[in-house]
Amino acid sequence: MQRPKILVTRKWPYAIEEILTKEFDSTLNHQDHPLTPKALKDALSHFDAILSTVTDPLSTAIFKTTPIRTKIIGNFGVGFNHIDIQSAQDQGICVTNTPDILTDCTADITMMLILMSARRGTEGDRLIRQKKWHGWHPTQMLGQKVTGKTLGLIGFGRIAQATAYKAHFGFNMKIIFYNTSPVPLNLTQPVKAQNCNSIDAVLETADFISIHCPGSPQNHHLINEDRLKLLHPKAHLINTARGSVIDTKALITALSNNWFAGAGLDVFENEPAIDPELLGLNNVTLLPHLGSATEETRNAMGLRVIENIKEFFSGQTPRDIIR
Ligand code: DGY
Repeated sequence: MQRPKILVTRKWPYAIEEILTKEFDSTLNHQDHPLTPKALKDALSHFDAILSTVTDPLSTAIFKTTPIRTKIIGNFGVGFNHIDIQSAQDQGICVTNTPDILTDCTADITMMLILMSARRGTEGDRLIRQKKWHGWHPTQMLGQKVTGKTLGLIGFGRIAQATAYKAHFGFNMKIIFYNTSPVPLNLTQPVKAQNCNSIDAVLETADFISIHCPGSPQNHHLINEDRLKLLHPKAHLINTARGSVIDTKALITALSNNWFAGAGLDVFENEPAIDPELLGLNNVTLLPHLGSATEETRNAMGLRVIENIKEFFSGQTPRDIIR
């Protein structure tokens, strides 16, 4: 039997690419250039599986092509807002993702941004590199204490709950959250968390607000100018979910006018293009979408995609099928 023909859209960890080459008729992307919309469209006619990731905009228009050979899109990543799932399904294509395994590392990055924003970490690093540090003094770069403060989570899925666990047990933080639907019990870590009845209640109350909802069209600019006005002056806003959830222009206005103390961002609207005005602000920490970027997690993500496509090609239902 012929081995499934597979396209891997970006460069993956070496060990995982070796497995892919051994087990499938794999086309790898050694150059690691993001694929153009045309290349993605063509791929649908030539490959049995496309192993995509967040940099592949698999929009409705891409799926309007014939003939379609692709039967499965195995996404490397948990978020799938870049894939029009309905259009894929209308073409009979199964889509999978990689939940669970990146939860801890993304929660770690959230904690890192909370600490960096509160304690002005990047600002301090810049000060030293620019040779502007002239020694310790009692009122230099005072930030906010993290331990014992209130963390407000917008969305309370796996990553939010892992963050709650680390924040509560590591930093004695009080946890409040807002989630649109009842939280599945199997996800709940043993952390006492107070369920608020609105996003606004979280924004008004918390010292640190962290975004953990999907980057779906419904959540586009969920955090808009009116909502940014609700944060208190010493609060910090953290986003490790998707850039589109926060209105960037409104955030720039808020940070420029010190409506609250700072922000920590790992994700951006239209990334990798960053709004130049953000670059000029001292009270925002910027990271290049590092949430799941550890050797352990990226290897685990690759293995999980392989598991999904193997299940699919052997006639089983992949464990991470998106319905
Ligand atoms: C994820 O897994 O969704 C990460 O943001 C990378 O896509």
